[in-house]
Amino acid sequence: MIWTRYAPALLLPAGIQALPTSNTTRHDYDYGHGYEHLPELPSTNSYHTVPDNGTVLNITKTSPNLSPGLIFLTLNSIEPTAEHQQGPYILTSAGDLVWSGGDFQASNLRVQELNGESVLTYWKSTSSDGGGYGEVVVLNSALEEVASVCPDIDVVTKQGSNTTCVADVHESYITERGTMLLTIYNITTTNLTSVGGPASGWVYDCLAAEVSLSTNEILWSWSALEHVPLTASKLSLGTHGQNSSDPWSWFHMNSLQPFRGDVFVNSRETWGSYYVSRQNGSILWSIDGASSGANFSWQHHARLHSTPNPNHLVLTYFADNNDLPTTSTPSVALTLLLTPSSPPTLLSSLHDPVDPIASFAEGSHQPLDGSGAFVGYGTALVIKEFNTQGEVLYSADFGYRDLRRLAESYRAFKNEWHAVPSTRIALVVSGEKAFVSWDGATDVDSFLVFAGNGTRAVGRVLRRGFETGFEIPGGCGDLLVRGVVGGRVVGMSGVVKVG
Ligand SMILES: *[C@@H]1O[C@H](CO)[C@@H](O)[C@H](O)[C@H]1NC(C)=O
Ligand SMILES: *[C@@H]1O[C@H](CO)[C@@H](O)[C@H](O)[C@H]1NC(C)=O
Ligand SMILES: *[C@@H]1O[C@H](CO)[C@@H](O)[C@H](O)[C@H]1NC(C)=O
Ligand SMILES: *[C@@H]1O[C@H](CO)[C@@H](O)[C@H](O)[C@H]1NC(C)=O
Ligand SMILES: *[C@@H]1O[C@H](CO)[C@@H](O)[C@H](O)[C@H]1NC(C)=O
Ligand SMILES: *[C@@H]1O[C@H](CO)[C@@H](O)[C@H](O)[C@H]1NC(C)=O
Ligand SMILES: *[C@@H]1O[C@H](CO)[C@@H](O)[C@H](O)[C@H]1NC(C)=O
Ligand SMILES: *[C@@H]1O[C@H](CO)[C@@H](O)[C@H](O)[C@H]1NC(C)=O
Ligand SMILES: *[C@@H]1O[C@H](CO)[C@@H](O)[C@H](O)[C@H]1NC(C)=O
Ligand SMILES: *[C@@H]1O[C@H](CO)[C@@H](O)[C@H](O)[C@H]1NC(C)=O
Repeated sequence: MIWTRYAPALLLPAGIQALPTSNTTRHDYDYGHGYEHLPELPSTNSYHTVPDNGTVLNITKTSPNLSPGLIFLTLNSIEPTAEHQQGPYILTSAGDLVWSGGDFQASNLRVQELNGESVLTYWKSTSSDGGGYGEVVVLNSALEEVASVCPDIDVVTKQGSNTTCVADVHESYITERGTMLLTIYNITTTNLTSVGGPASGWVYDCLAAEVSLSTNEILWSWSALEHVPLTASKLSLGTHGQNSSDPWSWFHMNSLQPFRGDVFVNSRETWGSYYVSRQNGSILWSIDGASSGANFSWQHHARLHSTPNPNHLVLTYFADNNDLPTTSTPSVALTLLLTPSSPPTLLSSLHDPVDPIASFAEGSHQPLDGSGAFVGYGTALVIKEFNTQGEVLYSADFGYRDLRRLAESYRAFKNEWHAVPSTRIALVVSGEKAFVSWDGATDVDSFLVFAGNGTRAVGRVLRRGFETGFEIPGGCGDLLVRGVVGGRVVGMSGVVKVG
C-alpha cells in the first residue's frame, strides 16, 4: 500500500524495463544488460552522504533467534557541553544505522498507530536550557510530519527554560481516539507542612493531559497534586520546595497509558501506579512497590496488559530500583499478575546475571509479541533482549564511547517499521567512487545506477548497511540512482556530476 505513491513508469526513463514486481528475493532478478553488478566498497560507520558519525552498537551478545524488528532509541547528552550529535535513531539489531533523525534533544522514539496507520513519534526539546519541555513530532511512513503536538495549556515552567512548548519529555501515547496522552509539569505552590516543609512551599505538580493532535486543545487533564497525598512520596524533601526556583519534584509522573477507557499513571517518586477514572479523576485502584509486597522502586514504563481472564491483568515495569548513580541494585524488567483481592504475584523479574545493570533513572520494558522482552536501561546506555525463559539473547551498549555516563536513552524499543521517505536519495561523488544512502528507508535492497542525466542504465549495487559505496564505471559524466524495494523503483537521487 505504501508503495503506490511511486509509479515506476514515471521514474524509469523510456526504453528501460521496470524490474519484476513479484515477491522475488533480492538475488532472483534478471537485471539484463542494463543492470550489471558494479564493484561495491566495504561498508563503514563514517558516512559521506550525511554528517552523522553513526551510533555504534557494541554488540556483546546476539542470537539467531532474535525477535524481528528494528531498534528505536534516542541519544541525549546529559552534559550540555558534550559536542556529539544527539537525536532519534533507528538501527538494525546488527548495528546498521537505518535513520538518523537529526541533531537535537529527543526522547521516546517509537512506533504507534494513528487512524490505523503506523507512525513514528518522538519528543523534541524546544527549551533553551535543554530541560524537559518540548513538542511531540508525529511522522508518517514517508517520514513526513503529520502532527507536531504543542499542548495549549498555561503552566509555570522552570526559570530560564524559555520554551515555546510544554509537552514533557516522559510520555506521548496516541489513544484509539487519535488523541495523545501527555505528561505536563507545572510549578505551583502548596502547603508542605505534612512533609516538614513550609506552609507555602513549591512543588512540581504533574498533569496527565489528553491533547487534540489537530488543535493542541486539552481535552482532559488530571493533576497528581489534587489526588495523591504528598506523604506518598519516597523522595525526601531535603532543602527543596523553599522557593519557586527549586520546587520539590515529589511525584515525577513518567508514564501514562490509556486502558479500557481510563488512564494508568505511573509515579517514580511514590513508587506507585494509579488507575484513574477518566470520568471523574478518582483513583479506581493503585499499586505501589513498598506496601503491596511487589518489591520495586523508582520504576518506569508501567504498562497494563489484558489476559484471557477479564479479571486478571498483567502489569509490566522497568524497575530501576536505584535513585542515585552511586547505588548498584540491579534494575529489572518486572512482570506481575494482578488479581482481585490478592497481592500481586511475581511472574518474572528479568536481569542479566553476568552483566547486571543498575539504572538510576529512565528505562523501558517492552514485552515482545509471543515471547520475551526488549529492555532499555535508560541512564545506562545498554539494551538487552530476553527470551521467554529469561535468557539473554542480545546485549549491546551504545553511545559515543567518551560520553559513557554523560549520555542517556530515555527508552528503547524494538518494532516492525517500514518507511519509504519522500526525500531524495543522497548521492555523493568522490573521485572515482560514489556513495549512496537514503536516510530512513527501511527496505531498499538495491540501487540502480544511471548516467546521461538519468537516461542510460549503467549498473546496480546491492544496498549495504546505511551507506553503499561503489566504483563509478568509466564513461559516466554524471550519475543518478534509483532505489529498489522488492523489484519496484520507489525513489531517486538528483543528478550529480562526475569529475
Ligand atoms: C510469491 O511467490 C510464490 C512462489 O513463487 C507464489 O506462489 C505466490 O503466489 C507469490 N505471491 C505473490 C503475492 O505474488
Ligand atoms: C563493548 O562492551 C563491553 C562490555 O560492556 C566492553 O568491555 C568493551 O570495552 C566495549 N567495547 C568498546 C569498543 O567500547
Ligand atoms: C564527527 O566526528 C568528527 C571527528 O571526530 C567531529 O569533528 C564531528 O564533530 C563529528 N560530527 C558529529 C555530527 O558528531
Ligand atoms: C528565548 O527564546 C527566544 C526565541 O524563542 C530567543 O530569541 C531568546 O534569545 C531566548 N532567550 C534566552 C534567554 O535563551
Ligand atoms: C499551574 O500552576 C499555577 C500556579 O503556579 C496555577 O496558577 C495554574 O493554574 C496551574 N496550571 C494548571 C494547568 O494546573
Ligand atoms: C498547612 O497544613 C497544615 C496541616 O498539614 C495545617 O495545620 C495548616 O493550617 C496548613 N496551612 C495553611 C496555610 O493552609
Ligand atoms: C531557593 O532555594 C534553594 C534551596 O534552599 C537555594 O539554594 C536557592 O538559593 C533559593 N533561590 C532563591 C532565588 O531564593
Ligand atoms: C467516578 O467514576 C467511576 C467510573 O470511572 C465510578 O465508578 C465512581 O463511582 C465515580 N466516583 C465518583 C466520586 O463520582
Ligand atoms: C517481595 O519480597 C518479599 C520478601 O523478600 C517476598 O516474600 C515476596 O514474595 C516478594 N514479592 C514479590 C511479588 O516479588
Ligand atoms: C535532465 O533531465 C531533466 C528531467 O528529465 C531535464 O529537466 C533537464 O533539462 C535535463 N538536463 C540536461 C542537461 O539535459
